[in-house]
Amino acid sequence: MASQYSSFPGMDDILPGEIEKWQWLEEKTRTAFACWGFNEIRTPLLEPTELFTRSIGETTDIVHKEMYTFKDRGDRNMTLRPEMTASVARAVIQNGLLKTNKFLKLFYTGAMFRAERPQAGRKRQFHQIGAELVNLTREDDPYYADWLIVRVLINFLDYLKIKNLKFRINDLTLINGEQAELVRSKLRKYFESHKSKLDPDSVYRLDKNVLRIFDSKIETTRALIRDVPWNDIAPFSEEFLKLNKLLQEGFEGNVSFEIDRTLVRGLDYYTGVVFEVASSTLGAQDALAGGGRYDRLYEELGSTSTPCTGFSIGMERLLMVLEKNNPTAQSQMSTKSIYFASIFPNDNHAAFLKTVGASRSLTESGFRVIVAEPSPKLGDHLKRASKLGASYTVIRGDQELTEKKWTVKNMMTGDQASIPEGGLLNYLMQNTKELELP
Ligand code: HAM
Repeated sequence: MASQYSSFPGMDDILPGEIEKWQWLEEKTRTAFACWGFNEIRTPLLEPTELFTRSIGETTDIVHKEMYTFKDRGDRNMTLRPEMTASVARAVIQNGLLKTNKFLKLFYTGAMFRAERPQAGRKRQFHQIGAELVNLTREDDPYYADWLIVRVLINFLDYLKIKNLKFRINDLTLINGEQAELVRSKLRKYFESHKSKLDPDSVYRLDKNVLRIFDSKIETTRALIRDVPWNDIAPFSEEFLKLNKLLQEGFEGNVSFEIDRTLVRGLDYYTGVVFEVASSTLGAQDALAGGGRYDRLYEELGSTSTPCTGFSIGMERLLMVLEKNNPTAQSQMSTKSIYFASIFPNDNHAAFLKTVGASRSLTESGFRVIVAEPSPKLGDHLKRASKLGASYTVIRGDQELTEKKWTVKNMMTGDQASIPEGGLLNYLMQNTKELELP
C-alpha cells in the first residue's frame, strides 16, 4: 500500500540493494585516506547559521538562496550544514586540536543540505567525501600543501579507477589575498566599462562582490568573463606555474589538465590555489569534486592565522561515474558479498547460530555477508542471492551438517566446491580479488 507520506523532493532514501555501494565506497575511502595519514572527523548536521554566513559569504548562492535555516525552540538561528569545511574549522578551534598537533590531516563523509532544484546528480540532501589539511606549511615550498591535496584527490580517484577526468586549476592569491582590494577594483572597472552587457544579477554583484559575477550562467556575461585581461589585472606567480608543471607531470593519461582563469568557486573563503575535477560522463552536473586554499577562515572564526587547503567530492556523482563508466568497479563492489543459504529445517537453532558465527568471522575480514533465514527452498535462496549481487553463496543443509562442510557456489560461473568447516574464510579470501592501492 502506498504511504500517504513521501520524503521531500531531492532527499532520497538509500535502500538495501543500493546501500552496499555506499558501504563499499566508504570502506575504500577509509583505506585510501588512512594511507595518506588522514584521521576521520564527524561534526553535527546542525550548526549556528552565522558559522556559514561568515565563512561561505553572504553574497554566495549557497548562503543567499540554498541554506536550510530555521529558529529552534530556544530562538537560536540554526542551519543544516551545506558543506563541512566551516564545521571542521569550528570543531578544530573549539576543541583546541592544534594545541597538541602542529598540523592536522582530516577527512570526513556525510550528508550536506542545499535547497537547489533537484535533478540527476543534484540533490537537496547529498553526501560528500572531504579532506582538509590544517596548518600544514613548509617554508621552503609555499605551495607544498596545494600539491599534496591535489595528489590525494587524484590518487583517490585513480584508486577507484575512475577515468576521463578533467582537472581545472586557478590561483586566487592576488584576487583574494592581501592585494585583493586593488585587484578587485581593477576587475570592477573592467566590468563597469561593459555594464550594458551584464545581466541584472551581475550588475547587483558588481558592487556587492565582483567575484560572484563569475558564477553567472548568462552568455553575454560569460563572454565578458572570458575576455578579462588577466595579465594586467592579476598575473600568475612563478611558484604557481611551477606547481602546475609538477602536478601535470604527475597526472596519468586519464586526467586532462587546464588552467582556468574563470574558476573562482562558489564559496568566499578561498585565498589561493583553487581547483575542480569534472567527469565527462556526468552530463550537465559534471563537477565531481572541488576545493582549494583557505588561509583566513580560522582568523575569521576568531582563531589565529592557520593556512589550510582541502577538497570535497560529491558521493552521489562519484557513484554515478563508477556505475556508468567503470563496470570493473561495479563487479568489485559485489566481489566480497557472500550469501549464506541455510537449507536445514528452521528449528535447528544450533546450526543457524553456527552459521551466524562463521559469517561473523568473514565480516571481520572485510566481507559483506547476507545471512538468510533458514528455508529448504535452495532455488529461492539462489534467486535472492543473485538479486542482491552476492558473488558466492555458502550453502548448508543436513548433508553438509553431517559431513561438517560448506558447499560454496560461485554465482558468476555456477561452479561449486565442498569446503571443510574451518576452511571457509581461507577459500573465499583466495577466490575474491581486491582493489590494489596505487
Ligand atoms: P563544493 O564545490 O560546493 O565544495 O562541493 C563539492 C562537491 O559536492 C561538488 O563538486 C559536487 O560533486 C558535490 N555537490 C555539491 N552540491 C551538490 C548537490 N546539490 N547535489 C549533489 N552533489 C553536490 C565544497 O563543498 C567545499 N567544502 C570543498 C572544500 C573543502 N574546499 C576546501 N575544503
